[in-house]
Amino acid sequence: MANSLPNIVPSIFIFSTIFFFFYFSTPSTAQNDTVFATTLSPENFGNRPLILTHLHFYFHDIIDGPNQTTVRVAGANLTSKFSLPFGDVAVIDDPLTLGPDLNSKIVGRAQGIYASASKSELSLLMVLNYVFFEGKYNGSTLSILGRNSVNSSVRELPIVGGSGVFRFARGYALAKTYKFDTNSSDAIVEYNVYVYH
Ligand SMILES: *[C@@H]1O[C@H](CO)[C@@H](O)[C@H](O)[C@H]1NC(C)=O
Ligand SMILES: *[C@@H]1O[C@H](CO)[C@@H](O)[C@H](O)[C@H]1NC(C)=O
Ligand SMILES: *[C@@H]1O[C@H](CO)[C@@H](O)[C@H](O)[C@H]1NC(C)=O
Ligand SMILES: *[C@@H]1O[C@H](CO)[C@@H](O)[C@H](O)[C@H]1NC(C)=O
Ligand SMILES: *[C@@H]1O[C@H](CO)[C@@H](O)[C@H](O)[C@H]1NC(C)=O
Repeated sequence: MANSLPNIVPSIFIFSTIFFFFYFSTPSTAQNDTVFATTLSPENFGNRPLILTHLHFYFHDIIDGPNQTTVRVAGANLTSKFSLPFGDVAVIDDPLTLGPDLNSKIVGRAQGIYASASKSELSLLMVLNYVFFEGKYNGSTLSILGRNSVNSSVRELPIVGGSGVFRFARGYALAKTYKFDTNSSDAIVEYNVYVYH
């Protein structure tokens, strides 16, 4: 008895060290270091069916003044050669409101970039994230990447993804100018967004 105890203690120590090594290091090694891609079943996400959501809001693009939301960040000096602002790039943080009035409830913001990308008409490349603040949508985003031919009465912009409630998002946004101030170039644009997520 007195002799066997010292033999057991080291083997328990070795066993628990091996156990700890496999229990704690193997899963993270498998996930981080040795496996690049794993095929998952939709069951891994609870087999949730796709939801189709319609969003309606107004987008306010304010070019100048105390409530300015748009900053022109780049353009080539060659831009002046063209009759259109071809080459101009702006960064925006535009409020999205429930009604057409800027003082109506803010439901989100459009944050991103647009670039004037046509030599023959006023047409923008829009690369934007819309972040929402309402209820269960608070903090969720939709990503928009599309062509905005400003003079067309209705423009269709693809929704290419989303986060939060809008994970796996795809869909489209219909943009319609509600009001355009020809002096300031400020625009209020009505949006109808249809998104599967
Ligand atoms: C700026 O925004 C505030 C709050 O929405 C509004 O009360 C004010 O009239 C706006 N100013 C201008 C010049 O649009
Ligand atoms: C663009 O800017 C450069 C440097 O200021 C100038 O040399 C060139 O003439 C400009 N080009 C045009 C088309 O204005
Ligand atoms: C949205 O979430 C932010 C941060 O979690 C919180 O501060 C804010 O009050 C929420 N807004 C609404 C309208 O729930
Ligand atoms: C496009 O819209 C702008 C601003 O409203 C206007 O000045 C221009 O004449 C329009 N161009 C065309 C081709 O309709
Ligand atoms: C544009 O500016 C002119 C001259 O300042 C003014 O008479 C006109 O009412 C303005 N138009 C709008 C839509 O604000």
